[in-house]
Amino acid sequence: MKLVSAIIKPFKLDDVREALSEIGVQGITVTEVKGFGRQKGHTELYRGAEYVVDFLPKVKVEVAIADGVLDQTIEAISKAANTGKIGDGKIFVTPLEQAVRIRTGEAGDEAI
Ligand SMILES: Nc1ncnc2c1ncn2[C@@H]1O[C@H](COP(=O)(O)OP(=O)(O)OP(=O)(O)O)[C@@H](O)[C@H]1O
Ligand SMILES: [Mg+2]
Repeated sequence: MKLVSAIIKPFKLDDVREALSEIGVQGITVTEVKGFGRQKGHTELYRGAEYVVDFLPKVKVEVAIADGVLDQTIEAISKAANTGKIGDGKIFVTPLEQAVRIRTGEAGDEAI
């Protein structure tokens, strides 16, 4: 299993949710986050050398998925969240050791 965490522009959340539903993802966790990327949010030359960093509001979308659907999950998020402008976000993939569906006790692939 994998845990896919995507940091996206907040207004793209509905598109990403729809795209993930279309490929059969069963659950999504969404968190409001703040962050910056290469442009440091708002880049400003300060005393010639230092940069002032602004945190921009982003949304983190987390989905636990079976290994077999990783590529299509990444593709779905990438397509749905893409505007072609800076700040479109990033997708991070980590191995997921275990998942448990609390009500039924199912574990692993069955639980997600
Ligand atoms: N290396 C990183 N580690 C953790 N979070 C990151 C990293 N890079 C980006 N993020 C998160 O993703 C958000 C969006 O990043 P962003 O799309 O601006 O990346 P970028 O590398 O600057 O690409 P672009 O040039 O397209 O803007 C950031 O606000 C931050 O929350
Ligand atoms: Mg950026």
